[in-house]
Amino acid sequence: MDRYAVIGNPVGHSLSPRIHEMFAEQTGEPMSYIALEAPVDGFAPFVNALHEEGYAGMNVTLPFKRDAWKLAERRSRRAELAGAVNTLIRTPTGYKGDNTDGAGLLADLIRNLNLELEGSHILLLGAGGAVRGALQPLLEAGPASLHIANRTASKAEALAGDFAELGPITGSGLEGPFERQYDIIINGTAASIEGKVPPLPDDILRGGGACYDMMYAKDGKTAFVEWGQAHGAGISCDGLGMLVEQAAESFYLWRDIRPGTRNVLKVLRS
Ligand code: ATR
Repeated sequence: MDRYAVIGNPVGHSLSPRIHEMFAEQTGEPMSYIALEAPVDGFAPFVNALHEEGYAGMNVTLPFKRDAWKLAERRSRRAELAGAVNTLIRTPTGYKGDNTDGAGLLADLIRNLNLELEGSHILLLGAGGAVRGALQPLLEAGPASLHIANRTASKAEALAGDFAELGPITGSGLEGPFERQYDIIINGTAASIEGKVPPLPDDILRGGGACYDMMYAKDGKTAFVEWGQAHGAGISCDGLGMLVEQAAESFYLWRDIRPGTRNVLKVLRS
């Protein structure tokens, strides 16, 4: 029985054990998956001890994604670009680091929500780790433009500069300047945690466009999801699908099997 865990602090609320349990049941893979809380200042020794115990892999969540990036013996290109690791894969001497968050976001947007990203105008709110991790896969999807707006404008501008070679990307503060309405607005700020929405012009979303919150809520209604509904969105969705899809991508890295996600998402929603 191969052992896996999600490591965070706090981690008690994590849905990952339930998700991976459902994946394991569905695929018949012999594995266990639990949530473990590491001390905030002691991530590396904690993970090294788990390696000694034989752990085959881990998911890493807040606040350790950067620590995991540092700890990894080597990293995938997408983890390198994200500057963060959410998936550790066992090697004989340690762990390889990968990042499945961006792939999870794209899978939810394209496969589950049927959004057309190619040729679209996308607005991304925030400039922290969550947004950085989404930039490479979003740009690879071929949008006509990708604008990052962040409370601290300089961070959005710096991020746009870092990824300028990968596609048409710009950055500004939350007050703009915005050159157009957007087809898709993705919220990657931590404002949702406080039940707030970043202040945005009322007409920033194209009529019938899509709003997506990288955070999720029990009832699916984050403050940003409700903002989208009140501002003419055709689709306004929280990030539960992204969570399930990033988990599926991690599962695939560990087990070389792609689990189905639709039923898992349905079960979690109910
Ligand atoms: P994460 O790694 O989860 O993305 P982070 O790196 O702490 O978290 O980034 C949080 C993001 O949410 C930042 O872009 C932050 O804006 P600043 O760069 O100006 O700090 C944004 N944020 C947090 N609270 C916010 C709020 N109340 N309104 C708007 N943006 C907020």
